[in-house]
Parts: sequence; C-alpha cells; structure tokens
Amino acid sequence: MYETKNDLSLDIRTRTAALLNQRLADAIDLGTQVKQAHWNVKGASFIALHELFDQVAEHVEDQVDLLAERITALGGVALGTVEVVSRSSSLRAYPLDIRDGTQHLQALSNVVADFAAKIRSAIDETAGWGDATTSDVFTQISREVDKDLWLLEAHFDARQVGQGVVGEAAGSSAAPRRAATS
Ligand SMILES: [Fe+2]
Repeated sequence: MYETKNDLSLDIRTRTAALLNQRLADAIDLGTQVKQAHWNVKGASFIALHELFDQVAEHVEDQVDLLAERITALGGVALGTVEVVSRSSSLRAYPLDIRDGTQHLQALSNVVADFAAKIRSAIDETAGWGDATTSDVFTQISREVDKDLWLLEAHFDARQVGQGVVGEAAGSSAAPRRAATS
C-alpha cells in the first residue's frame, strides 16, 4: 500500500483494496464475457441483442474504472491485467459453443446475477469495516448491475426465470473456473 493523507486506517484501506481487487477481476472478466456475446450472438433478435449487450458492456467498462480508481485512491495497486484476471476472477468461464440469443441471454443473466450478488455483499462488508465511501461505490455499481440483469431477464417469462431454466442452460455448458473468493 502507498502512503496517503486519506484518513482511513492502513488496516481498513488494505482490506478494502483487496476486496475491490477481487471484484475488479470479476468486472474485467464480465466485460469480456459480455463482449463475447455481443460479437457472436445470432438469430432473429440479432440486432436488438447485439446492441443491448454492447450497452451492458459499456456499463461494465465504467464499473471497472470505478473499482480500479477507488483502489488507487486508497493507496492500493489496481490489478487489472488479463494475466492476473484469468487467475483471480471468481466468475464461471463463458461458454464458447453457444449461438442463439436465448443461449447468450441465459449465459449472461447467470454471470451478471453472480456478479450482482458479490457486489451486493461487498456493500455490507465494506460498510462494516468503516469504509462508507467504498460501500457507496459498490452501491452505485449494484444499482446499475441490478438494472442490467433486469434488461437481460425481461426476455424470459416468469416460469423460465423462476424454475431455473435460465440457470440450468448456462450451468451445463460452463464449468466453474474456480471457487468463489468473495
Ligand atoms: Fe461492437
């Protein structure tokens, strides 16, 4: 950690920066997964989904910047290279063998929901450590991610989301890369 006149204690800054780096790796991974969908989706809904996925990717890109710059504001080092992210992301690997819009919506809604849950738990965690500012950064991201999840899930009827049809499809085609580190 670098020295800073920021009045948060070194202990809080160190813990918070580590958690921010975990979610930064997830966010960078998520951004590449959304782009993968943006480029490769096919079918009758192509243009709508191609554009929707690009909007989500832009949001994630902004969230990556928010996370990384909060780390450096705390005196930490933002770890954002592909090499680091490929080791430390807690998200499932994106399936490379899917094609139509429904499959991409299923895969993306699963990974966005996973990311949303981890961001939400970081809100309380950092608030509990006494860093309300980082908690607010996570809250901002949480609000955006929840909205993007809604935009993706709105393509399914309640039965598909509620009965786990969405989850099963993507879960069967993508093995977990590693256990979640939260
Ligand atoms: Fe594009």
